[in-house]
Amino acid sequence: VALDGCNTLGFSARARALSEPHTVEAARAQVLASRQAGERLVVIGGGSNLVLLPWLDAHVMRPAFDEVIITPAEDGLTATVSVEAGKRWHALVMELAAAGWWGYENLALIPGCCGAAPIQNIGAYGVELADHLLRLEVMSLEDGSCRWMNREECGFGYRDSIFKGALEHRVLITRLELQVSRQASPRLGYGDLAQRVSAALPQGEEVTPLQVAQAVIATRSEKLPDPAQLGNAGSFFKNPQLPQAEAQALLTRFPSLPHYPQADGSIKLAAGWLIDQCGLKGARRGHVGVHAQQALVLVHFGEGAVTELLALAQEVREAVHTRFGVWLEQEPRELGMMPEG
Ligand code: EPU
Repeated sequence: VALDGCNTLGFSARARALSEPHTVEAARAQVLASRQAGERLVVIGGGSNLVLLPWLDAHVMRPAFDEVIITPAEDGLTATVSVEAGKRWHALVMELAAAGWWGYENLALIPGCCGAAPIQNIGAYGVELADHLLRLEVMSLEDGSCRWMNREECGFGYRDSIFKGALEHRVLITRLELQVSRQASPRLGYGDLAQRVSAALPQGEEVTPLQVAQAVIATRSEKLPDPAQLGNAGSFFKNPQLPQAEAQALLTRFPSLPHYPQADGSIKLAAGWLIDQCGLKGARRGHVGVHAQQALVLVHFGEGAVTELLALAQEVREAVHTRFGVWLEQEPRELGMMPEG
């Protein structure tokens, strides 16, 4: 079957089969059926952090269960949010923000589904999924059994988790449990968020999570292409994290390089700036290119092949390595293979 609409880069790909279970029970039935048939089962979400190669020798399952239950604590100051895998992340963020719950307003407009959010530990503007995650439930793709995992067990890091490592392709994340709060906690330290929020805030009024979400949406819309209009998978590379001495050496040579000291002493560098400095921002190669507003994003203008994108990614990595001695790591996961021959 064609996997149309299964990845936001918009390349065509095919798989053995595609199913979209509407309940956790239906997902379990598919897990067991695939196991019985001896076929590989691969789970995908919104496909917004994925590079799909033309042929995926597997049954693809896209969770379509998307129930949200918000349970306020007795004092009403916090609430536990239980959300199923198929719920659109941005829709959840907006529902919580509109209801006055603080926690995830900085993660507005991130594409994709809730079930995929923990895999790369989505993050933006100083907040990441792990910050307010209580626990999550996974289903074993071996036997369909479910269990809860707490935050520590998930091995969260910068754009990283155990679901990219030891548990890759071994579980389906069925639901998340998040904690949100009534306590105002605006995090506006990033870029011009604070200015945007105060400009939109009537004199003397308290900021709301919805206003913060709207400021984030405005900021993101200026730099990041809407996957519905222009194929992309968000940041195509991670911001590289270097040991302090190495980073310092680079910063001596390039003092204007944006950098962020980390808790462990290492220093994170802005990959978008490195690519930009190589003169690649806005570069176009056939049907693909480097986004003109944010060099960290690779885009597909349509009608292209995934090989063009991978070649461009390699060109970018080599240019950055030649100029700065740093190898960029690809962020979206690759799935599938090139056809034989
Ligand atoms: N920069 C340039 N030129 C560019 C792009 C960026 O000089 O073409 C500079 C900017 O001026 C800024 C710095 O690099 O000083 C950082 O840029 P930006 O604020 O746009 O953020 P980023 O580090 O490039 C990360 C995340 C984004 C997230 C933003 C905001 C990664 C890989 N990317 O991008 O996440 O939205 O911060 O928090 O960590 C994603 O993961 O798909 C994603 C979009």
